[in-house]
Amino acid sequence: MEIEQVRALFPGLDAQVYGKPLVYFDNAATSQRPLSVVRAFEESSLHANANLHRAVHCLAETATRAYEDTRDAVRAFIGAAHREEIIFTAGTTAAVNLLAFSFGEAFVGEGDEIIVTEAEHHSNLVPWQLLCLRKKAVLKVLPVDDSGHLRVDLLPALLTDRTRLLAVAQVSNVLGLAAPLPQIIRAAHARGCAVFVDGAQGIVHDGVDVQALDCDFYAFSGHKMYAATGTGVLYGKKKWLEAMPPYQSGGEMIGTVRWDGTTFAPLPAKFEAGTQNINGVPTLVPAIEMFRLLSDGALREYAGRVSDRLAEGLAARGDIHLYGTPSAPGEKIPLYSFTVEGVHHEDLALVLDKMGFAVRSGQMCAEPLMDRFGVTGMVRVSLLPYNTMEEVERFLDALDVAVTMLRG
Ligand SMILES: Cc1ncc(COP(=O)(O)O)c(C=O)c1O
Repeated sequence: MEIEQVRALFPGLDAQVYGKPLVYFDNAATSQRPLSVVRAFEESSLHANANLHRAVHCLAETATRAYEDTRDAVRAFIGAAHREEIIFTAGTTAAVNLLAFSFGEAFVGEGDEIIVTEAEHHSNLVPWQLLCLRKKAVLKVLPVDDSGHLRVDLLPALLTDRTRLLAVAQVSNVLGLAAPLPQIIRAAHARGCAVFVDGAQGIVHDGVDVQALDCDFYAFSGHKMYAATGTGVLYGKKKWLEAMPPYQSGGEMIGTVRWDGTTFAPLPAKFEAGTQNINGVPTLVPAIEMFRLLSDGALREYAGRVSDRLAEGLAARGDIHLYGTPSAPGEKIPLYSFTVEGVHHEDLALVLDKMGFAVRSGQMCAEPLMDRFGVTGMVRVSLLPYNTMEEVERFLDALDVAVTMLRG
């Protein structure tokens, strides 16, 4: 498949902003949506819009089948052993909150420890901070070095018999570097500590096989990998999920409800209280198909060249500081965060926007990491396989113009 054919599948890429063709480089925040996903949402809204699991009528049956088929598709996609291990959530943030509450209720007590890394998105940090406050547990932090790599050499000293869970991003949303997960997971498991992997950024570039990885929990957001917003997944090994109490309570997550007490449904319903995202969840199926399509060898090779050209173009400028320097091939996703000497990140993003380029600026929901690098914010450019070499060339030229303009 040629890149222009790929782009034709994403009508949103054709947009104009301020009369200029849009160059969408904010993919790490939200990906553009293919027509197949839009159609799946439309199809579900128009022809299968009934509540799930509850009623015996035909429409409810169709909607329920689409929802449960999606669970099977996600199970296969991430390599989980059982379909009950797939819990639908509103996204990664919702998944981490579920986990922090429920795992916390079951397994974390006063004086226990949770480890997060310095490179975490707030979504994989604040829920753990709140859990530790609630339970009088201790939050420990695995730092990063100047190149942005996790200091895994410090991990053995951080882990103790009281460490209940370690939470780490598969790939940092600021640095773009993949964490050495097998090494981290082995070290944690050796001390009896469970591992949660935040796959929000990793899944769309690297995919995942949760059994091969042997993580205990994994989460991702649909909207970052082509699916509808408000969709996401929490994976957990059955042995953990079965031992964890419900997070939210209400309809469909119950066994029996009596005045003298309530019992709960088996997995996965136990963690899916109330009306679910009926129309959004089925869009994960075409999203997974899109992921597979874009993983095609020739497209990957092209995407690699586009990313390399961007990296080289940015590095060639003497006035840019790039964060997250890879030390091995394939370690970095096509995501580049940087600061420019003498130019405020927000000003630069605003000027680029006026020129048609959508980039991210600010703290990127990672304030402790900004503090670590002594900056108030960065500019982030993040690509997906539908981005082109021509867009990158235009961006590098536009960056020149914008920086010159801002320096006056
Ligand atoms: C690494 C990481 N974790 C978690 C999140 C939160 O994802 P969501 O806002 O879809 O819940 C993000 C979003 O940018 C992210 O990049």
